Amino acid sequence: MNPILINKEKCIGCELCVKDCPSSYLHIENGKAHAGDVGCLECGHCYAICPQGAIRMMNYDCTEEAVVPMTEIPSDTLLAAMKSRRTIRQFTDQAVEPEKIQKMLEAGRYSPTGGNSQNVLFTILGSKQKKAEEICVDLFRKGTDLAERLKAFSDRFNITDNFFFKGAPLVIVVSGRSSVDAGLASSYMEIMAESLGLGVLYSGFFVMCTKISRKLRKLLGIPKGQKVVTCMVIGYPAVKYQRIVPRKPLSSKTL
Ligand SMILES: Cc1cc2nc3c(=O)[nH]c(=O)nc-3n(C[C@H](O)[C@H](O)[C@H](O)COP(=O)(O)O)c2cc1C
Repeated sequence: MNPILINKEKCIGCELCVKDCPSSYLHIENGKAHAGDVGCLECGHCYAICPQGAIRMMNYDCTEEAVVPMTEIPSDTLLAAMKSRRTIRQFTDQAVEPEKIQKMLEAGRYSPTGGNSQNVLFTILGSKQKKAEEICVDLFRKGTDLAERLKAFSDRFNITDNFFFKGAPLVIVVSGRSSVDAGLASSYMEIMAESLGLGVLYSGFFVMCTKISRKLRKLLGIPKGQKVVTCMVIGYPAVKYQRIVPRKPLSSKTL
């Protein structure tokens, strides 16, 4: 089915949609926009740009949501807030409210994906959180091949029962076909989490376990062809930082 529906009554042939279409899917015919047969990315640029509201996207919920430019957030404030975020490893017992979880997921859903694939899966561990952590703790502690390979880490860290999730109330595993897409989605979610007063730990150790343990992958129900890219451990911070940390000098060059 054609994913784009153009209302010819409303269309004024301004060509804005044609010029902004990334895949040359649209053209002007008899003074009106026309959709081709194949090649639509379903990115919604035509829908978003049309001054007449003449475009509908099939199979999408086309609610009229107003654009809020990022320029509404003062860039100095945004930069200082980005620099102020810290990895959180100490959480309070307070549960994360469902509305806040939804906002984080919505931020992830709206992150860019290559070719607009939107192929990122967000798995809330929920009732399986304890079991998932137990599997990981076992992997790190027991005399498995992995434990040998992880000796450098396990010697440095005390593998407690809550080593992976630090007693946080919420864990969201982000997976996808593309690591870049899933990574970008995670970053969007982290920024939203911070703006909601929440803290995040990316548990790279957990991701490591998903690469090794079939049992863990089965528990998570990750579809074939998808890889676990991040594991976001989320909750209210039990710590407060007083200043922004220093960083190594910027590594950049202009060619
Ligand atoms: C992809 C990724 C994986 C990480 N995995 C872990 C982890 O498994 N355990 C942990 O304690 N910290 C983990 N971290 C946190 C980093 O150690 C942390 O970002 C770094 O120490 C700098 O601190 P900051 O995030 O507060 O600037 C991870 C961070 C990233 C980006």
